[in-house]
Amino acid sequence: TRNGVEFAVADLELAEFGRKEIRLAEHEMPGLMALRREYAEVFPLRGARVSGSLHMTVQTAVLIETLVALGAEVRWASCNIFSTQDHAAAAVVVGPHGSVEAPQGVPVFAWKGESLEEYWWCTERMLTWDGEGPNMILDDGGDATMLVHRGTEYEAAGVVPPAEEDDPEEWQVFLNLLRESLAADGQKWTRIGQGVRGVTEETTTGVLRLYQLAAQGKLLFPAINVNDSVTKSKFDNRYGIRHSLIDGINRGTDVLIGGKVAVVCGYGDVGKGAAESLSGQGARVIVTEIDPICALQAAMDGYQVTTLEKALPVADIVITTTGNKDVVMAEHMAKMKHQTIVGNIGHFDNEIDMAGLARYPGIRRINIKPQVDEWVFPDGHSILVLSEGRLLNLGNATGHPSFVMSNSFSNQVIAQIELFTKHEEYDNEVYRLPKKLDEKVARIHLQALGGELTKLTKEQAEYIDVDVEGPYKSEHYRY
Ligand code: NAI
Repeated sequence: TRNGVEFAVADLELAEFGRKEIRLAEHEMPGLMALRREYAEVFPLRGARVSGSLHMTVQTAVLIETLVALGAEVRWASCNIFSTQDHAAAAVVVGPHGSVEAPQGVPVFAWKGESLEEYWWCTERMLTWDGEGPNMILDDGGDATMLVHRGTEYEAAGVVPPAEEDDPEEWQVFLNLLRESLAADGQKWTRIGQGVRGVTEETTTGVLRLYQLAAQGKLLFPAINVNDSVTKSKFDNRYGIRHSLIDGINRGTDVLIGGKVAVVCGYGDVGKGAAESLSGQGARVIVTEIDPICALQAAMDGYQVTTLEKALPVADIVITTTGNKDVVMAEHMAKMKHQTIVGNIGHFDNEIDMAGLARYPGIRRINIKPQVDEWVFPDGHSILVLSEGRLLNLGNATGHPSFVMSNSFSNQVIAQIELFTKHEEYDNEVYRLPKKLDEKVARIHLQALGGELTKLTKEQAEYIDVDVEGPYKSEHYRY
């Protein structure tokens, strides 16, 4: 704590650099800045205590300071051990008007390269407020939401179950934290769960977890699925990845992508952006899919569709985008060509069998530099694994650029306002924002790019049965 601001970041001295990049990012985030102007005198988040778990980048700094500008108190942690940009974290702690000696910003608990213990410690600190707990959660991937839900469940049972032997290390660390917290305060997570008015969730993987909780009747508070705003998943997941996937590969390896064979596992929104990103560099892209519709889309887009097993002998780069587990296994990696680049851009590291790789008989790991490891098999061939199998665009590079994140985060801010101010109108279910707001977010960003919209005439609007002011599409329209 310094000047009353609690924090755990790498180096507060980096704040000045962070502030400069935040200033540049603000210009590239017109949606967030428009929301600041729109609500300049209203402070719709006054009284909100937002606990946020989302990659602590420069773009997220602009999101955090938007929430603050709208009246919220905020505490923050990153949702990934490698994704923090330390200068952004420092600048948020210092705040726009504070100094390193006297910070005036937001408590942040995040640094690049946390251990798993440190990660869960940061998440816990971010959810632990002096006095009353948080009344809003802003989540990416659902770890903060999971901590509150599992904590509540185990407090009710009075016991934390033991980890199974084959549970990932992450889960064991998580259970240990809950065990300690149960011993110290048997009601901590129950109280927090009762105080939270709602959660707004950023990504596909976190949304899946929310729908599972809701289906089991276990969701403790209402949730807004931000991911499935069209201006989020059809932009961030796709065009954001198109930018940041090759950025991560380039910064990690600097291997020429043109002419290589790249395998993209999964052809959802992220997979589509990934394939475009790699083929844009001149790679020959092969797609693997389980869903015939997405597989057919890939074929129509000109990519070969086959299985990972069949693609392995020719692959130079293998990228997972599925949000599923066990997609690239140790046996696959054992059969790859020498120095094949292996990376994941989905949310969690279980897409690539990192545990199996580490256990592979005779395997050797050579760390090349942070977030780049060469794994040498006993036969002498090796593969390059980026970010230890965690999302490589945030581990090896700096994630999506500001403009696309402005779309995503505008939806986040709107969703926070909605649940904070109208939570009584919502049940403990998962909701999406109305299409009209999606169109509003798109309108702001289109304008910033100098795009000009055609206006419907009243007669045209009647003919296609929409309002002149929108929404322009039915709920089932897929974009
Ligand atoms: P999506 O559901 O649109 O796409 C996933 C695709 O993978 C689906 O088409 C599915 O059929 C396919 N798939 C599932 N299992 C498979 C398997 N075993 N082999 C081949 N294909 C398989 O999801 P979306 O939005 O594309 O997100 C994917 C992941 O990326 C999620 O974990 C999400 O949270 C994450 N994400 C990461 C971002 C980043 O910056 N790194 C940004 C946005 C999302």
